[in-house]
Amino acid sequence: MLSRVLGALVVWAVFAGGVSNAAGPSDAVASSNAVGASSAVNSSNAASPSNAAAPSKAHAFEDTIAERARPCTLCHGAQGRAGPDGYYPRIAGKPAGYLLHQLQNFRDGRRQYEPMAVLLEHLGDDYLREIAGYFATLDLPYPPPQPAAVSGAVLERGRRLVAEGDAARQLPACAACHGSALTGVVPAIPGLLGLPRDYLNGQLGAWKAGQRRAHAPDCMAEIVQKLSPDDIAALTGWLAAQPLPANTHPAAALPAPLPLTCGGVPASAQAVNAAGGAQR
Ligand code: HEC
Ligand code: HEC
Repeated sequence: MLSRVLGALVVWAVFAGGVSNAAGPSDAVASSNAVGASSAVNSSNAASPSNAAAPSKAHAFEDTIAERARPCTLCHGAQGRAGPDGYYPRIAGKPAGYLLHQLQNFRDGRRQYEPMAVLLEHLGDDYLREIAGYFATLDLPYPPPQPAAVSGAVLERGRRLVAEGDAARQLPACAACHGSALTGVVPAIPGLLGLPRDYLNGQLGAWKAGQRRAHAPDCMAEIVQKLSPDDIAALTGWLAAQPLPANTHPAAALPAPLPLTCGGVPASAQAVNAAGGAQR
């Protein structure tokens, strides 16, 4: 499995490099790729005979976005629906701006996961925008929710924090930004449903430890600093146990202006409802 992933990534990285450097017409791109990809694959073959079939694969490699996205699905599951456990997150159907920002975050060191950082190291924003746009358009069903793993009282605490926040601590409701249906808001706020508890715990923990950051000002970092470990357990226990609504798409606009400024959310999308006309 690992050598298959690495083999595909070598081809992909060479191929992506060829495309992003090329200024010429598309057949020039194709021929320079064929040379670049097969020579890179040949040299890696010398060290690892198990890749012997790779050169012919490189020739069959077509320049379609679905083909370029294929190596991503080796980790992120078929069509980016998520890996088999809580570790490889779903990427299909998340808002395009959010996906782009995460690709930039891994590339630029605001999120830490070495294989993704290496994969994205030499790719420009335009290329990442294209991949993000591709995964954002995939409209696929979500898995059923996980059975609740925490008590009723803990679930209720989680529900209240999500829906109401905690005014005494100046903690806004999660729903104020992630949308009243919690399916996210275009273009840059992700949904919170359909994600495994382990993944949610991992992300909130990473923010708390300073290992995950978003474009500044990082509103999520401010929020997570106010959450205790018990708050996080209640939030993720409740979120992971919720079924998705019939309409799983991110909302077209915020219900009200954001309670905090978030660097990743374009100014035009932060207060779109000012005139009262942007609600779904
Ligand atoms: C070697 C396995 C692997 C490969 C290949 C891989 N990813 Fe990832 N990706 C991960 C893991 C693991 C995470 C979660 C890391 C973390 O916990 O922050 C992740 C996180 C992400 C995220 C953030 C998701 C979110 O909801 O915040 C995006 C977007 C993403 N990957 C896109 C891609 C794309 C696009 C490709 C192909 C160009 C790709 N990944 C290739 C393993 C991989
Ligand atoms: C002020 C607006 C705001 C509030 C309130 C807010 N969030 Fe967020 N959240 C964001 C934004 C913006 C992002 C995307 C950050 C990025 O680009 O990495 C995000 C991302 C996340 C993610 C990452 C999702 C993924 O797929 O990796 C999680 C988890 C999350 N928020 C949980 C919460 C929880 C739980 C609460 C309530 C306690 C909450 N958020 C409240 C704005 C907010």
